[in-house]
Amino acid sequence: MDGSLKNKIIVLGVTGSIAAYKSADIVSHLKKLEAEVFVVMTREAREFITPMTLQTLSHNPVSSDLWEEGNGWQPGHIELADKADVLLIAPATANIISCFAHGLAPDLITSIYLATLAQVIIAPAMNSKMLFHPATKNNLKVLADRGNIIIDPDQGMLACGYEGKGKLSSIESILSIIKSCLS
Ligand SMILES: Cc1cc2nc3c(=O)[nH]c(=O)nc-3n(C[C@H](O)[C@H](O)[C@H](O)COP(=O)(O)O)c2cc1C
Repeated sequence: MDGSLKNKIIVLGVTGSIAAYKSADIVSHLKKLEAEVFVVMTREAREFITPMTLQTLSHNPVSSDLWEEGNGWQPGHIELADKADVLLIAPATANIISCFAHGLAPDLITSIYLATLAQVIIAPAMNSKMLFHPATKNNLKVLADRGNIIIDPDQGMLACGYEGKGKLSSIESILSIIKSCLS
């Protein structure tokens, strides 16, 4: 794919969806485009993919804990929030979308979300009933109205056994949206 992301900093938030394994591919593609990638995971995301995988692919330490010491004097969430050119959440669970919509900040990713001025791109992935639940629909609308970019999930066979909408959007779409934001 054309277009370099050289000197661009992408903070990638990975949350507890079955699609979390796809974040490894996202990191790998971002690195091929020469982006600097910092991965932040929720506790639940670590049930689906290991920090070691994402650390190795991103060439940077992976953070999960709000209370981890940062590199300098600044709290880690502020440091990451400040240096991001883009905050990409992929995959984004119904839970994280709800936290963002309501301004809750109980963990590292949600705290970065509130503290950043970077463009936020959210790629939901979930069961279609969760996606079409009025609560989730409303939360996504709140985020879109706020200027966050929501990448519409794809239709297909879902891991839960249902056919429907809710698959994480393709890596090509995610990369192309990041590039157009940063161009
Ligand atoms: C096997 C399994 C798969 C799951 N997949 C999803 C999913 O694709 N999308 C989603 O919104 N929640 C999914 N969940 C539920 C979330 O893991 C749960 O809501 C969790 O609290 C999300 O935490 P987080 O948003 O902090 O990562 C799944 C749970 C399990 C056990």
